[in-house]
Amino acid sequence: MRTLAVLNQKGGVGKTTTVANVAAALAKSGQRVLVIDLDPQAHLTIHLGTDPRQIARGSYQVLTASVPIAEAAAQVRENLCLLGASVDLVGAETELVSVVGREIILREALEPVADRFDYLLIDCPPSLGLLTLNALTAVQEVIIPLQPHFLALQGLGKLLETVAIVRKRINPKLSVSGILLCMFDRRVTLSTEVRNDIEKFLSSARGTDCAWSQAQVIPTAIRPNVKLAEAPSYGKTIFEYDDTCNGANDYRSVAEFIHHSLGKPIPAAPAVVEQSSQSSSESKPAEVIASPAEIPSPGISLAEPVATGIERPTEPQKPMVPDTPQFSAPTPSHATPVTPVSTVESIPTPISENVPVKPSESENISVTQV
Ligand SMILES: Nc1ncnc2c1ncn2[C@@H]1O[C@H](COP(=O)(O)OP(=O)(O)OP(=O)(O)O)[C@@H](O)[C@H]1O
Ligand SMILES: [Mg+2]
Repeated sequence: MRTLAVLNQKGGVGKTTTVANVAAALAKSGQRVLVIDLDPQAHLTIHLGTDPRQIARGSYQVLTASVPIAEAAAQVRENLCLLGASVDLVGAETELVSVVGREIILREALEPVADRFDYLLIDCPPSLGLLTLNALTAVQEVIIPLQPHFLALQGLGKLLETVAIVRKRINPKLSVSGILLCMFDRRVTLSTEVRNDIEKFLSSARGTDCAWSQAQVIPTAIRPNVKLAEAPSYGKTIFEYDDTCNGANDYRSVAEFIHHSLGKPIPAAPAVVEQSSQSSSESKPAEVIASPAEIPSPGISLAEPVATGIERPTEPQKPMVPDTPQFSAPTPSHATPVTPVSTVESIPTPISENVPVKPSESENISVTQV
């Protein structure tokens, strides 16, 4: 079973939309898929047409009452099973606070069903608490959806640092495999700038042993598409709601990329095709907007300002966001040191270089302690 957590502690970036529609696309293509709603908001559960109030057995009961996943998960589509969330889940973190091994409950619960599925996708809450820690402990891959706006990279450093610490202390197989740009409007210069910043940063980690050294920006970005926002209110996936819209085409393409390419060695220089914007024909197929070929040479900081066409605050101006702690950690060893910019966090070093870890710490790790 291939296991992926869709994670970003920022809210509203497209996590749930991604899990619902990538899972649906994989299931339609014949893969056996399990999705887990680990968000007390229960948006994934609702998106797939299940009322959270009707869930007597779901992720909350699996985490707090040892209910087997085989009993709690429900088949909601052909090839697609849901371990749903109920409002009770909001209390899980508090209830589990004194439980020894609380961060590996989900991992252990998944073991008996691992043979029954080809894919596990976990929809994480917009936080880095115990629920997210359970997800990171249970999976091998992380996909980070990002909305390419001015504050998109704010918090990415903390998120990567968290992944690195979990990898070091609890789950050595964990890595960031993909970054998915959601609500990506190519007409907006900033979208392209954010993508370039991320690709530069990822390229600087290649060849290191850090958790994101093999991560790719998924070539198909998800365009803004109102159908994607409408589908959840009907309890439908985008393929059930409008199989030919941009959103359906984009997510189909993303699912194909995840299935065939993500997590594998990065291929050399596929063709680059410009992506059209929302105003183009709805029936156009999803188009590739970026490729590893576009990744610039190593050594460029994610925080480095881009010279062309971007309105970012410079030194004399008042910062547009509150100050956040700067990670002092440098980029991977062969790269140029990070040049911090007040609006974007520096990305942390691979954890092995700056955080001593005692084996005994794995028992009581909490992401919030990071
Ligand atoms: N490409 C898109 N175009 C238009 N609307 C979108 C798109 N992707 C997601 N949305 C809408 O944006 C909102 C936020 O998306 P979503 O719920 O997937 O984000 P999230 O990261 O899961 O949020 P949260 O952190 O609250 O769980 C939703 O109303 C969703 O329908
Ligand atoms: Mg969500």
